[in-house]
Amino acid sequence: MALRTILNNDEGALSKRSREVVNFDTRLHILLDDMRETLNSAGGVGLAAPQVGVLRRAAIIELTEGELIEIINPELISAEGSQNASEGCLSFPGIYGMVERAVNVEVKAFDRYGKEIKIIGNELLARALCHEIDHLNGVVFTEHVTEYVDREEAEADRKRQGYRR
Ligand code: CO
Repeated sequence: MALRTILNNDEGALSKRSREVVNFDTRLHILLDDMRETLNSAGGVGLAAPQVGVLRRAAIIELTEGELIEIINPELISAEGSQNASEGCLSFPGIYGMVERAVNVEVKAFDRYGKEIKIIGNELLARALCHEIDHLNGVVFTEHVTEYVDREEAEADRKRQGYRR
């Protein structure tokens, strides 16, 4: 495994729509393994392939250490309710803001071997799924921020949301 460089949103690097993954091969597996190492090293909870400069529809989420979710070609098939809480992104270091997201979502995706999976996400996982799928569509969280908050406010809010990392 190798660490990859996480892009900041300079010059709109994260504004492009990523393409579908077609080959569920070693190249994809290396990408996903590298993304996991990069995510863990950076101390985040989610990372999308375009954040490491690969414009493919793949993302990972690890809300609890050791419980990795990999989503390839994810599609949001339902979204209900709303929650307003603070959010951040590894591509925007030190920036936090309040973002309204669905509370309950269902996502259809594929695993790294090309097998179809369905993920039901509530609260924090719903937020993370929406955030990562946005990245694959070239949308960054700052486009949804209603109010920016400082680091202390964001950390207090993260605890309230149940982040364990
Ligand atoms: Co992000």
